[in-house]
Amino acid sequence: MQTGPRLYDRARRLIPGGTQLLSKRPEMFLPGQWPAYYAWAKGAKVADLDGRVYTDMSISGVGACLLGYSDPDVSEAVRHAVEAGSMCTLNCPEEVELAELLCELHPWAEMVRYARCGGEAMSVAVRIARAATGRDVVAFCGYHGWSDWYLAANLASAETLNPHLLAGLDPNGVPRGLEGTAIPFRYNRADELRAIADSHHGRLAAVVMEPVRDKQPDPGFLDEVRSIADQTGAVLIADEVSMGWRLVTGGAHLNYGLLPGIAVFAKAISNGHPMAAIIGTRRIMEAAQASFISSTYWTDRVGPAAALATIRKLRRENVAANLALTGDRIKAGWREAADRAGLDITIGGLAPLPRFTLNCAEPQAARTLFTQLMLDRGYLATNTVYVTWAHRDAEVTGYLQAVENAFADLARAVARGSVPAELRGPVAHSGFQRLTG
Ligand SMILES: Cc1ncc(COP(=O)(O)O)c(C=O)c1O
Repeated sequence: MQTGPRLYDRARRLIPGGTQLLSKRPEMFLPGQWPAYYAWAKGAKVADLDGRVYTDMSISGVGACLLGYSDPDVSEAVRHAVEAGSMCTLNCPEEVELAELLCELHPWAEMVRYARCGGEAMSVAVRIARAATGRDVVAFCGYHGWSDWYLAANLASAETLNPHLLAGLDPNGVPRGLEGTAIPFRYNRADELRAIADSHHGRLAAVVMEPVRDKQPDPGFLDEVRSIADQTGAVLIADEVSMGWRLVTGGAHLNYGLLPGIAVFAKAISNGHPMAAIIGTRRIMEAAQASFISSTYWTDRVGPAAALATIRKLRRENVAANLALTGDRIKAGWREAADRAGLDITIGGLAPLPRFTLNCAEPQAARTLFTQLMLDRGYLATNTVYVTWAHRDAEVTGYLQAVENAFADLARAVARGSVPAELRGPVAHSGFQRLTG
């Protein structure tokens, strides 16, 4: 057995769930074979603990590194912040510079607070919205992290969150008193949001959603959301944790002319260094002062220094436009390879986050076999690609060549009905699944 899978066996005995993030569990990709740990990551290359180097065409650090791993300009800014002292009794000037830059990119925003992680920043945003309105109820669409305010949605029924990106999230440990405070609506279903607003008249603190994720908004949907928020006095919170910076330099909401009261950034804002920002209008953000929202490491220097270097480079290199081209090329390559192999696939997702589904008898086993076939060819790959700026022509050409071969093998296995037999380990998990042992 390779070093990574062996280390992961040790981790599972010491760390509940094995990893700190569900999406990084090896079981999600290729149980028993996924390298699990990295020695170094640079650009689109990743080395495992046995020195094998892969090209990462999978989830790219779960979307945290739009510029690619260990970007030299961001690393330089981080090195400088570390050498100048990353923590101090006084505050770092970069946090003011970053606030000015974020408000310049988002002219509707007037004030900024910081955190370090996406879920944590979303909790800050919801707290501010509740403080600003004096109300409790949050209507939301999609996934927004691990916090109590969000998992409260599953107190009424453990199924409530199932249509919202991650199925099967357990609300154990969330106070039962929060039941009824977080109510979901589906994307492009303004009627569901309207019904929540009507049945919680005068109690809606916030409407929380990603402006876009997997598919384009229907005409009028975002306008309708905005007007429901206006009519009810709820704060519209745009969650830009995953889509921010990917479609445009700034929040995806800029592309749709959607004016939120608060927008939240994390992940790609700082290209792999912990940082999150909550930006909003003065009237709403000042409510942060009417609550207690404060934490020591929200003052570190590395986060804002990395964010400044990242945003400047994203802007200078017009990275968002580049990601769209690369994503479209990957989608076209999948289509050609699948047609040539006679494999039935459906392609979806926005250009910078393309994905495919396999239309066959055992799709999860087939997806696992695709990962195995690609790993054998030197690629970390699954059925989605978080496109980064480090996915250059050479990487994409090599990847599509490997996909062509892997799809041909996969199509043969599907036709023979031998997909499970060709797997050297168990089938990957599809969503949240508790690990035992
Ligand atoms: C839309 C959205 N919001 C919030 C989060 C949570 O961010 P984090 O994992 O940094 O806590 C995620 C993570 O995937 C996300 O996609």
